[in-house]
Amino acid sequence: MTTIASIGTGNMGTALIQGILSADENITVRATTNSAASAKRLAGEMPQATVTSVEEDADANATAATGADFVFLGVKPWMMADALRALAPALEPTTVLVSMAAGVASADLAQLAPQNPIVRIMPNTPSSIGHGVIALAPDAEVAADSVETLRSLLSGAGLVVDLDESQIPAMTGISGSGVAYFFLLAEAMIAAGVKQGLSEDAARQMVVATADGAGRLLTRKPDPAAQRKAVSSKGGTTLAGLQEFIDAGIFDIAEAAAQAAADRSLEMERENSEVING
Ligand SMILES: NC(=O)c1ccc[n+]([C@@H]2O[C@H](COP(=O)([O-])OP(=O)(O)OC[C@H]3O[C@@H](n4cnc5c(N)ncnc54)[C@H](OP(=O)(O)O)[C@@H]3O)[C@@H](O)[C@H]2O)c1
Repeated sequence: MTTIASIGTGNMGTALIQGILSADENITVRATTNSAASAKRLAGEMPQATVTSVEEDADANATAATGADFVFLGVKPWMMADALRALAPALEPTTVLVSMAAGVASADLAQLAPQNPIVRIMPNTPSSIGHGVIALAPDAEVAADSVETLRSLLSGAGLVVDLDESQIPAMTGISGSGVAYFFLLAEAMIAAGVKQGLSEDAARQMVVATADGAGRLLTRKPDPAAQRKAVSSKGGTTLAGLQEFIDAGIFDIAEAAAQAAADRSLEMERENSEVING
């Protein structure tokens, strides 16, 4: 049976582990948090996992990681150095480290745990319901069968995309962070509906169901331009609305957003590299 230690199990760690467990319950999960309060809440959300906290047991991370096949690292990027440094002596050389941290390069993680193979992943939050996108970038030390096992585990959380680590900032810009852009659009559309006289409740219900429907249609026929053109009759309402988005520079806005997130990812890599390498 595969054993996963999830070190730092907050929003993203919980989303991933829940996605994995929803597809395969035959996995041992040991999850840790910093505070006892978070551990208590997590134990309620994830009854299949053994949950411990650093507040209650200073060795909780090392104990959870000992003998695990995969150690998922889900602490905030700037906490990674301290957490991994403390954990490294407890790791067996065969244990694969799986870092989900935005802006921490594998080469820097390797400084902290030189004996262990490292996989960098970049997930997004729909992973908790099996509809995430998870980029998978293993370093050269990771055995092919470990990559295969990890790919299969993560596929419970969503679409797994193999990438080179150098492509992670670009992926972050459209997918890791990209899910929030869709939420922002939904927020803006609800506000617009309210301005047009709808109640907030009605506007929210309609926008959420519209997003769901659009997503499902797009999944069936993954050509957004064709889908858009199919609903844009000449002289019609949709074309009038779309023209506003186009005139306001929607393509430039998306490009700038993707670039800003990718740039920030690289900037974080540099900042975290300085922290790790002193
Ligand atoms: N959120 C996203 O959409 C997203 C997307 C892609 C990647 N990521 C990456 O995922 C990672 C986690 O982000 P998040 O949003 O899930 O943060 P989060 O919700 O704050 O979760 C962090 C978790 O780490 C725990 N923790 C802190 N220090 C610890 C320690 N020394 N030992 C064990 N656990 C410790 C926290 O416990 P307490 O609750 O007790 O403090 C919490 O459970 C980050 O590296 C981030 O870059 C996030």
